Amino acid sequence: MMKITWLGHACFLFEGTKTVIIDPFVPEGKVGIKPDIVALTHGHADHFGETLSLNVKTVAINEIAKYLTAKGLNAEGMNIGGTIEVDGVSFTMTPALHSNWLEIGGEGYCGGCAAGFVIRMDGISIYHAGDTALFSDMKLIRDLYRPDVALLPIGGRFTMGPEEAMMAANFIGAKVVIPMHYNTWPIIEQDAGMFKSSIERTTDIEVRILKPGEGTVVESVTYD
Ligand code: NI
Ligand code: MN
Repeated sequence: MMKITWLGHACFLFEGTKTVIIDPFVPEGKVGIKPDIVALTHGHADHFGETLSLNVKTVAINEIAKYLTAKGLNAEGMNIGGTIEVDGVSFTMTPALHSNWLEIGGEGYCGGCAAGFVIRMDGISIYHAGDTALFSDMKLIRDLYRPDVALLPIGGRFTMGPEEAMMAANFIGAKVVIPMHYNTWPIIEQDAGMFKSSIERTTDIEVRILKPGEGTVVESVTYD
């Protein structure tokens, strides 16, 4: 059992044996929690957010991890396709079709590739797609990591929109899908209710629409 809280945009809090925050950018307000571990999908400001000020162990792609280490953070560098274990939590870095760039105080840094994560803790497997277009290798994520929950961007423009995310949900096969990266700003406005009803009408996937700050409890699913 694990509690997943959407803090808004692409930022989620996972509470189990450890507390993990991914992409600590909260559109209105602050993260407000000091987690054990931060995971970063890429360096764009709407994901990097409070990474530096949280100042906890941070999992990121090598290029960003090097930057964080230079800033004095305890960073765990990795790359796409790899899996590491940090304090008993497993992080697998997955591909994402997106750009990456780290911009801080007017200075820009190479951020390596953008990524997603499969995070496994307490027997629950969560896939956070990061910012990404749809790609058919999401089927490999299903076959390899059997996510119980998929956190998918639906905002369009910078990522998949609802139509592509519906196909992504089918590729990934998680029983629970939580939409993210929409309605933060007018340019990524989407109707999550339509997304939910379209998926639930045609599949046995459950779409949980959360409000920023709202949490939901997820259970592990046993596959045959
Ligand atoms: Ni981005
Ligand atoms: Mn983004």
